[in-house]
Amino acid sequence: MSDSTKSGPAEVTLAAGDKNVVLPVQYPTLGAPCIDVARLPKETGCFTYDPGFTATASCKSAITYIDGDQGVLLYRGYPIEQLAEQSSFLEVAYLLMNGELPDRNEFAKFEHEVTHHTMMHERLKNFFQGFQYDAHPMAMLAATVASLSAFYHDTLDLEDPEQRRLAAIRLLAKMPTLAAAAYRYSIGWPIRFPRNNLDYVNRFLHMMFEVPSEPLEMNPVVAKALDLLFILHADHEQNASTSTVRLVGSTGANPYASVAAGITALWGPAHGGANEAVLKMLAEIGTPDKVDAAVARAKDKNDSFRLMGFGHRVYKNFDPRAKIIREMTHKVLGELGIDDPLLEVAMKLEEAALKDDYFVQRKLYPNVDFYSGIIYKALKIPTEMFTVMFAIGRTAGWVAHWLEQQVDPENKIGRPRQIYTGAATRDYVAIDRR
Ligand code: CMC
Repeated sequence: MSDSTKSGPAEVTLAAGDKNVVLPVQYPTLGAPCIDVARLPKETGCFTYDPGFTATASCKSAITYIDGDQGVLLYRGYPIEQLAEQSSFLEVAYLLMNGELPDRNEFAKFEHEVTHHTMMHERLKNFFQGFQYDAHPMAMLAATVASLSAFYHDTLDLEDPEQRRLAAIRLLAKMPTLAAAAYRYSIGWPIRFPRNNLDYVNRFLHMMFEVPSEPLEMNPVVAKALDLLFILHADHEQNASTSTVRLVGSTGANPYASVAAGITALWGPAHGGANEAVLKMLAEIGTPDKVDAAVARAKDKNDSFRLMGFGHRVYKNFDPRAKIIREMTHKVLGELGIDDPLLEVAMKLEEAALKDDYFVQRKLYPNVDFYSGIIYKALKIPTEMFTVMFAIGRTAGWVAHWLEQQVDPENKIGRPRQIYTGAATRDYVAIDRR
């Protein structure tokens, strides 16, 4: 590595066979430097190989910073702990999308705009009728979000910044409406219109739980907990679903299609689907005395069972979101007067795993999803809706990344390479000679 006036070298030299290639090093505001390998194929004829992109930065982004070793998460520079304590989800969404916290006027305008884009087109309701009654709400959410592009032609000109902004607002505004509609359809209840006199979270709760036969009592403890969960889920830099949104976005596809793709990526149990999987796992374990057997199974390499809600690609110390949620879980259950036996199983599981060598050596700590399911359950959100809840919060991040990508001068269509391991060139053989 050669010297530089920055905190490290300006370039590195890679010896590739008989060639020396000089590669520039790029320095972020925070975090590890990146060796820019873009010129490598041209100069050496070689590609880089990095399954799961564990060593690869796919873009430059000014939205979120994670230090996995220190357990740090910043949205636009603000620590997640401060935002969780003092902000609201809608303010965080504004921050992620615009880069700065809003003043009172900016926030009022933003809230008004989001509130007035929450309605779903009447014909979009017909989409729900096409699903089986027991369809998973994530399937309905992905399909209906993708279909928004068929309703909002006025925001599909990606060259127009105002249309891009409007599309982002629509996605943020309509996601809870579509999510609640998916839930109500699955239980056979009529779909509810959004109520503009309620705030973002209470409006969603109203669309989920209101029945004509009796008034719905809005519980501030529930609303506060949900708002906090949305804040914690709002963004997480280049995670699988956000990278999916960006990959689809890189092709010039519209934002509704891009975010729908993000929803499908979020669904997997290794990603946002983990919160649903955690609750199923805790229910299967059943009682604290069965915890040791579950831990033993998770360590057995011949068994595919993993402790859901443990481990993270980036956090190798602790997940700061899990710390906040852990505290909140006890508070919420206390305030709502819920005595959930699954919490006892969760506590025992956490304790057993944290002192087990297998988990300690691999730095496998409870992640954000470990506790979120228990809170959602306490808030009476059905299990199938857990990942949908994650999607509502993450929409703020998805649209922020999509907006950022659209003006990134270095944006290129995402197109990884491969190591081909198939047959070498061979001649076709006629069927009767095979
Ligand atoms: N239970 C048991 N063993 C585990 C677990 C687990 N939950 N997670 C990782 N390991 C082991 C894994 O078998 C491997 O062991 P070895 O070195 O002996 O082969 C080692 O730990 C490293 O695991 P990895 O799969 O290479 O790690 P990764 O960074 O590719 O995967 C992960 C990260 C989150 C997908 C994984 O830890 C996992 O599957 N966790 C359970 C699912 C989960 O909770 N997902 C939510 C993630 S946080 C929210 C989100 O992103 O949406």
